[in-house]
Amino acid sequence: MSEPFAAVEIISTKRDRNELTDSQIDWVIDAYVRGVVADEQMSALLMAILLNGMNSREISRWTDAMINSGERMNWNSLARPTVDKHSTGGVGDKITLPLAPLVAACGAAVPQLSGRGLGHTGGTLDKMEAITGWRASLSNEEMLKVLQDCGAVICAAGSGLAPADKKLYALRDVTATVQAIPLIASSIMSKKIAEGTGALILDVKTGNGAFMSAPEQAKELAKTMVELGKRAGVKTRALVTAMDVPLGLTAGNALEVRESIEVLQGGGPKDIVELTLILAREMLDAAGVTGKDPEVALRDGSAMDHWRRMVSAQGGDPDAPLPKAKEKLTISAEASGEISTMNALQVGIATWRLGAGRERQGEKVQAGAGIEIHAKPGDTVKEGSPLFTLHSDEPARFERAKSALSGAVTFGKVERLPLIVDRID
Ligand code: URA
Repeated sequence: MSEPFAAVEIISTKRDRNELTDSQIDWVIDAYVRGVVADEQMSALLMAILLNGMNSREISRWTDAMINSGERMNWNSLARPTVDKHSTGGVGDKITLPLAPLVAACGAAVPQLSGRGLGHTGGTLDKMEAITGWRASLSNEEMLKVLQDCGAVICAAGSGLAPADKKLYALRDVTATVQAIPLIASSIMSKKIAEGTGALILDVKTGNGAFMSAPEQAKELAKTMVELGKRAGVKTRALVTAMDVPLGLTAGNALEVRESIEVLQGGGPKDIVELTLILAREMLDAAGVTGKDPEVALRDGSAMDHWRRMVSAQGGDPDAPLPKAKEKLTISAEASGEISTMNALQVGIATWRLGAGRERQGEKVQAGAGIEIHAKPGDTVKEGSPLFTLHSDEPARFERAKSALSGAVTFGKVERLPLIVDRID
């Protein structure tokens, strides 16, 4: 079959800072998925996009072409409106775990297709898999059944959803082209739009532990994604939130499940509870649901009830003890005083080195590995009092984790981003 374009022409168009036409974009994505455009050609095009950018028409068309590479889910048979939340990822960010059952308890349906951790940021599926028996992979029919019965489902995106993104993301990872706003925005939004949610709240992280460390860049990413969502008919809003300090008091899979359960029991760290409630209210508002107040649903046990049902529906045992690492090591404060900063990136790298994360896709993670944080910026500690407890099955990992934490905590006047940096509607 003769092809309407040559990849070389499309690459040179973008190299020379010109706009790609709609039909060039449609073709290049489709031809890449078919194997007609080679990896080295797509790599060159991705680098040209990273260097020269795309305008909003090009980004929107690129996103549509990625959506059209696979299936589009629909939840029309559900009685409740659907709403999802997507976080760009951070350290200790376990918000999805209490949030999905909480929003379900307040009357919306939450189809939460999630990912695994790569590098220093954790992934929701790895956390949920710390629960004995819990299964991440569901068929579309199973997903619908869990949503109907429990109001929320957290599971892996099937291979039929935006397959172009799977191929492109793997290529970006090895060609230093991940950090381009048009490519990040289209990658995230193609999956979220194909997932078929009616409304979407984006939690775009900023600060040293985030993908986009500079707030201005995070805001630009948030605006680009909100525009893409709206164009596709999804009610989309974004919050730009702090990731200069880890969220909550734990990082690592089973430790984060434990902390999420504390929140569902009406306790938990203040920042986690605050962000969970803010996001829940945004989600319910965007979905047009005016049922129960999320604060009440945390207090009266209804969010916990939805969690237990959701976990059980996917084969998990909500009463099974969570896995614990075989070894622990406590790190103490080297000075007395008020903690000024706690570097989220360093805590994330240390958590990863303890075995909670993976270096390559497909690697196994340790369910019990991670870090407990005993004091945060604003807390006053005494020299010798515990700052962190490291957890791992392999004590040989402690030294490298400790070195990642070197200098992660400073003392003096508190310096941190506000929890909510910006809101884009
Ligand atoms: N998450 C995604 O799904 N895609 C990106 O490009 C970055 C983060």
